Amino acid sequence: MANSRVNISSCLQSLNCLRLLEELQVTMRSSPLKGGRRHFKPKVSIGRWTILALFTLSMVFLYLMVGDGWRAVGENSDTGSEVTLPGEQEGFGPISTWIQSNDQEGLSPTPAVSQSGDQEQFSPTPIVSQFGDQEGSFVVVPTPTASIENSSISQTDSSAAPSVEAISPTLRSSDKCDGRRVYIYELAAEFNELILRNCTGVEAWYSMCDDIINQGFGVPLQIPESDPMASILQPPSAWFRTDQFTIEITFHERLKIHPCRTTNTEEASLFYIPFYHGIDLIKNLYNTDFVARDRLTLLFIKWLRSQKPWQRYQGKRHVLVLGRIVWDFIRDYSKDKTWGSSLLTHPELTNVTKLLIERDIWKDDTLGVPYPTSFHPSSESDLRAWQRTVRTFKRHKFVSLAGATRDNKLTGLIRDAVFEQCANSSRCHSIACNDGWCKRNPQVIVQMGLESVFCLQPPGDSPTRKGIFDSLQTGCIPVVFNRQQAALQYLSHLPGNHSDYSVIVSEEDVCDHNYDIMNHLSRIPLAEVARMQANVVNLIPRLLYRNTKLTGDYTSMDAIDVAMGSLLTSFDAEKPIAGASS
Ligand SMILES: *[C@@H]1O[C@H](CO)[C@@H](O)[C@H](O)[C@H]1NC(C)=O
Ligand SMILES: *[C@@H]1O[C@H](CO)[C@@H](O)[C@H](O)[C@H]1NC(C)=O
Ligand SMILES: *[C@@H]1O[C@H](CO)[C@@H](O)[C@H](O)[C@H]1NC(C)=O
Ligand SMILES: *[C@@H]1O[C@H](CO)[C@@H](O)[C@H](O)[C@H]1NC(C)=O
Ligand SMILES: *[C@@H]1O[C@H](CO)[C@@H](O)[C@H](O)[C@H]1NC(C)=O
Repeated sequence: MANSRVNISSCLQSLNCLRLLEELQVTMRSSPLKGGRRHFKPKVSIGRWTILALFTLSMVFLYLMVGDGWRAVGENSDTGSEVTLPGEQEGFGPISTWIQSNDQEGLSPTPAVSQSGDQEQFSPTPIVSQFGDQEGSFVVVPTPTASIENSSISQTDSSAAPSVEAISPTLRSSDKCDGRRVYIYELAAEFNELILRNCTGVEAWYSMCDDIINQGFGVPLQIPESDPMASILQPPSAWFRTDQFTIEITFHERLKIHPCRTTNTEEASLFYIPFYHGIDLIKNLYNTDFVARDRLTLLFIKWLRSQKPWQRYQGKRHVLVLGRIVWDFIRDYSKDKTWGSSLLTHPELTNVTKLLIERDIWKDDTLGVPYPTSFHPSSESDLRAWQRTVRTFKRHKFVSLAGATRDNKLTGLIRDAVFEQCANSSRCHSIACNDGWCKRNPQVIVQMGLESVFCLQPPGDSPTRKGIFDSLQTGCIPVVFNRQQAALQYLSHLPGNHSDYSVIVSEEDVCDHNYDIMNHLSRIPLAEVARMQANVVNLIPRLLYRNTKLTGDYTSMDAIDVAMGSLLTSFDAEKPIAGASS
């Protein structure tokens, strides 16, 4: 352990890390993205996030899918719920509470939001539009795209975004797969099963054995009945202590039982490669023996080259899920780099679509997928009940921030500036997550999210953050500091205009001019806050990873359904998943 620590810090100071940083900065500079270069300052500390990351890790699975086949991308088939217009009949009681208690603190007068008795209704979000009647055929939804060539980056307009309206039940009872089937490669156990079995890793202090079980959801979240959250996190079977790096397992377990699975490569539209590379990498991140670190990678490349479908499609229609951020997989074999795996530098992977919790926004062959949160419902009614809880919770905190503070501060970093502003403000409530405390006690983060109107999400050493999803999952509006944190990442899962579900405060203004975040937030009209909250609640189904062990009907599309729908749509259109260079 001491050894690893030394390696981490020496990596931090080493020329190699700095080179990686410089390279990233060059990329950033050449991009017209405002704030891009600045954002990458934190990359200097890539080693530090790793330390953080080390405390989290995980996997395993099993499940059972509703026989729905592919559903339309972004479908939130809200069958059985009536809909009301957002923000109109749908009162946001909790907000009113907050408004009153903060009135004297400079909140701008806003139209009153009516309280409504009917909290059961589900309101459609304005960020999505309704599909025409597509009964009987597969609903093909354009993948939201983000252009990075023009400095004014725009997402596709909301009318093109996936619908969250109900799709007709007849769609599901007709050809469920619309001729599109997924093939799962049979990989040798050393590429997945054995990696899980060896979960203690090199260092006992970051054993992943608890994280890899239950489809990668980890151990069930058991909190004492005396804890007020016990009655809120219902049913208990839907809540887990989930690590952020386990989606490789979750995807695999889900696809194994997918109704559109085929074992015939001739009829497959999508080829899924169940290599748990991100999980394996955990053991190797600090292994200075690169030959050992890359052993499995090279075996994998060799195996891939020998596969007939890969040859036939030149790697296209192939999908690899990597449960870590992209920067962990681009160590250049030919250069003197020290961090991470070299997997994505191999040309064999260039045409393969990579799903990652953080993508490279300059590469159109990667798609960001949500970080897993603690909530994994097994039935539609459990999901709806949670949405009701989120919608009606009394939010008496204005702004919250959860995160680990860093020891060695580098000046000018957005993260430190945000922590300092929060500490200085009576309107900002913070939770210290040092030493993995929040990971072990996810109910604390859930409670904070439920009680708060806004949740600050400063980037750490990389732009994305699990907290953004914890926040959305609890109806707390995430406050981010640049578009690389969410809007340009999760193109399929967070479609449309980012101002519908998040607030962006300029990173530059906060760092350079000490721009007051709390004042900024308190100037947002109440009606606007209520509109965002309604949207956030409606996004919940598509951001979570549902339990494969169903206890009832499940009709909503979850994060995996949305990702698979986007992939199939882009493969059929022969367009890159992110559409950035098409
Ligand atoms: C950039 O903007 C120009 C002019 O508005 C437009 O013609 C071009 O297609 C845009 N490029 C992309 C990639 O959107
Ligand atoms: C997003 O919405 C805001 C206000 O709701 C608007 O000012 C902005 O132009 C929109 N952005 C895009 C890209 O449509
Ligand atoms: C388990 O991991 C250790 C440490 O990396 C390694 O030495 C060992 O060979 C692995 N065992 C298996 C079965 O993969
Ligand atoms: C990737 O696809 C392009 C065509 O789009 C092809 O020329 C290239 O050889 C493919 N790469 C690999 C490694 O198959
Ligand atoms: C926070 O308060 C301290 C002491 O009052 C002050 O020196 C500092 O400038 C404040 N920081 C911010 C970001 O306002």
